[in-house]
Amino acid sequence: MSGEGLQIERPALEQLASLLLERAGLKITPDGYYGLRLALTARMPAIGLDDAGEYVRRLRGLAGETELRALLPLVTVGKTEFFRDTRQFNAFERTVFPELVERASLSARTAKIWSAGCATGEEPYSIAMVALERSAPVDIWATDLNPAAADSAAKGVFPARRLVGLSEERIARFFTTTGEGSYVVTPPVRQLVTFEAHNLAAPFWPQVSAGSLDAIFCRNVIIYFDQPTIVGVMDRFFDALRPGGWMFLGYSESLFKTPTRFEMVEVGGTFAYRRPVTPRRVPDPPRSMLTPLPRPAPSTDSRPPLVVQASSPSGLTSLVPPPPLPRPSAPPIPRPSMPRGPGEPALTPVERLRDVVSAIDQGDFPRALRLARRLVDDVPDDLAARLTLGNVYVLMGSLDEARESFGAALAREPLCVEARVYLGLAGMQAGQLEDAKIELTRALFLEPTLALGHYLLGQVNERRTDLEGARRAYRNAIKHRKAPEHELLGHFPDLPRSNEAVGQSAQYRLAAISET
Ligand SMILES: C[S@@+](CC[C@H](N)C(=O)[O-])C[C@H]1O[C@@H](n2cnc3c(N)ncnc32)[C@H](O)[C@@H]1O
Repeated sequence: MSGEGLQIERPALEQLASLLLERAGLKITPDGYYGLRLALTARMPAIGLDDAGEYVRRLRGLAGETELRALLPLVTVGKTEFFRDTRQFNAFERTVFPELVERASLSARTAKIWSAGCATGEEPYSIAMVALERSAPVDIWATDLNPAAADSAAKGVFPARRLVGLSEERIARFFTTTGEGSYVVTPPVRQLVTFEAHNLAAPFWPQVSAGSLDAIFCRNVIIYFDQPTIVGVMDRFFDALRPGGWMFLGYSESLFKTPTRFEMVEVGGTFAYRRPVTPRRVPDPPRSMLTPLPRPAPSTDSRPPLVVQASSPSGLTSLVPPPPLPRPSAPPIPRPSMPRGPGEPALTPVERLRDVVSAIDQGDFPRALRLARRLVDDVPDDLAARLTLGNVYVLMGSLDEARESFGAALAREPLCVEARVYLGLAGMQAGQLEDAKIELTRALFLEPTLALGHYLLGQVNERRTDLEGARRAYRNAIKHRKAPEHELLGHFPDLPRSNEAVGQSAQYRLAAISET
């Protein structure tokens, strides 16, 4: 059964939106029903259904949880835009793209780029526009888990509001209007891109030949994966790239603590990963999941890239890769802020965030607030900064502002587990225990093995005098103390950070309330 021609009526979309709000805290307004429809078009045929009402009933039923988890990554398909992350695209356009095209032309072949997790196509079409502007031949392969998203992308039709991020010149050159308030990409753009459905989490990718690609964009996708999946995907990406090939991740994603053969490279004020021209040693196994990546100060120049890991035959600056550090049970000790003099480089966002953390840990919340607000204004996509700002508000008792910050984080990253956990903490701080329980339940729906989430839920249940619920939650926290570590983005002081520490605290609480 294919998704073509499925009848998906509005009442079913409304019911689904309310179910997603209740279970995962996703707020989907009628504007987002297009994305919901795409997700249903992918999932319903996969489980042999053609009636959307029946699908929603199935989700509400006993076996619904598994299906809801399969649906979730597809639901946020709409979260993309043309030339998303301007700094990264500038670096690609000015430095990486000319280099990879030149290398390809030296061996008389066409450069090949993969947009993996392309959603509705804005990313691969942006790459195609760069290629056309530079009159450089390129082959772009664009894939997504959701076949309906890939089909929609291939049509190349976008409502006017989705063209944000595009200059007037690009709209005029690369789009024509349909006359119904929509725009369609011109044939030269479309001809450069081939769209297909493809699951990155599958253990083998028969369609991808070893050493065949010059660059891979996989931005804002690995946030959906657990650590073993990330390791597998990165391994396969590495093998798929030619030596010297490039890989781009999203702004809040990094491989900082993932064992990888990639080298990390600073290019044009942003970071990218690169398959070294010669092999390098693989670091030790990971200790935690995604961490914010240190980022350099904004820059608009097109200097050659600076290699910050591993040795580089290109003669560029090379530093030895940092061995993975033992996972701290508390957040890293921040360096005090040193004001920089004129002519010295500005602090990077990560350095600025460290200053916020330092101010929080010293109890200087007004300073933390000032610094965090400025950071979020300057780097609106920095999820860790936005979450930390929310936490500063929580610590200062400004609950409305805190919720607004977490809401803004969720608008950028709808499945952000951290925002749910911190909203739970905000509820606890304000004594709004029912709200806290809902938010923590949502966090655990998104990440069932999050020991800290179970532990906090235990605390909330204790305060609600639901001792049975508290015992259940503490037992779950203990059960998941060996789960892969998930280092939370954003800083909240005095949280037990390692699963082992969380499990121990849960054990104490469990013993204490079992005696009562
Ligand atoms: C937030 S969008 C990112 C779109 C684009 N790369 C960007 O950064 O703007 C994430 C996309 O990843 C896709 N995705 C999630 N899991 C995937 C998987 N296992 N394989 C391929 N794509 C996946 C989703 O369907 C969604 O379209």
